Amino acid sequence: MTNTQPAIIYRPAQASDEAAIKALIRAVNINPMGLKWHRFLVAVDENGRLIGCGQIKPHRDGSRELASIAVQKAWRRQGIAGTIIEHLLAEQQPPVWLTCMDRLVPFYEQFGFVEVKAGDGRSIPFYFRLARTFFKPIQWFSRIPGYLAIMVWPASQK
Ligand SMILES: CC(C)(COP(=O)(O)OP(=O)(O)OC[C@H]1O[C@@H](n2cnc3c(N)ncnc32)[C@H](O)[C@@H]1OP(=O)(O)O)[C@@H](O)C(=O)NCCC(=O)NCCS
Repeated sequence: MTNTQPAIIYRPAQASDEAAIKALIRAVNINPMGLKWHRFLVAVDENGRLIGCGQIKPHRDGSRELASIAVQKAWRRQGIAGTIIEHLLAEQQPPVWLTCMDRLVPFYEQFGFVEVKAGDGRSIPFYFRLARTFFKPIQWFSRIPGYLAIMVWPASQK
């Protein structure tokens, strides 16, 4: 029997991946800041082409963010983002934070993240409160529907 499943390799990024990471982040239109290649985990196809990426981004307030999760359109719904997220979280001590549009909350809940809302007793790190504030005028200007959710892993983390 022949195996038709394409080979996907997950590995830490190399300097030579930087341009492809930046191109993917630009193509999916998510936060283009803080894309230092050495923090990334990448998924590549059998020809070495970048098909997905993600990183853990440290912030000055001491918090860490699961960020830059992106998969090329043609490769979606095959568990690639999920595998990247699981690899990245396996190397971390909690808590890890993220921001996402509200429609992606169920996606991140699969990996143990829980949405944190103002007034629910959890203290949200400065970076994430600032991100939410800065996002509001951008959202208004660009007419992006929904809201920017803040989530933390794991769900039990207070
Ligand atoms: C969101 C994204 C990273 C998901 O990548 P992916 O490799 O397709 O995700 P996975 O296959 O690992 O998803 C696993 C499960 O998550 C769920 N899921 C995937 N994409 C989802 C989405 N956009 N919304 C809600 N649930 C989603 C599905 O239940 C999926 O399981 P299924 O294949 O049985 O349906 C990808 O759609 C993408 O690159 N989007 C553009 C960039 C982006 O928005 N990044 C997130 C920034 S916060």
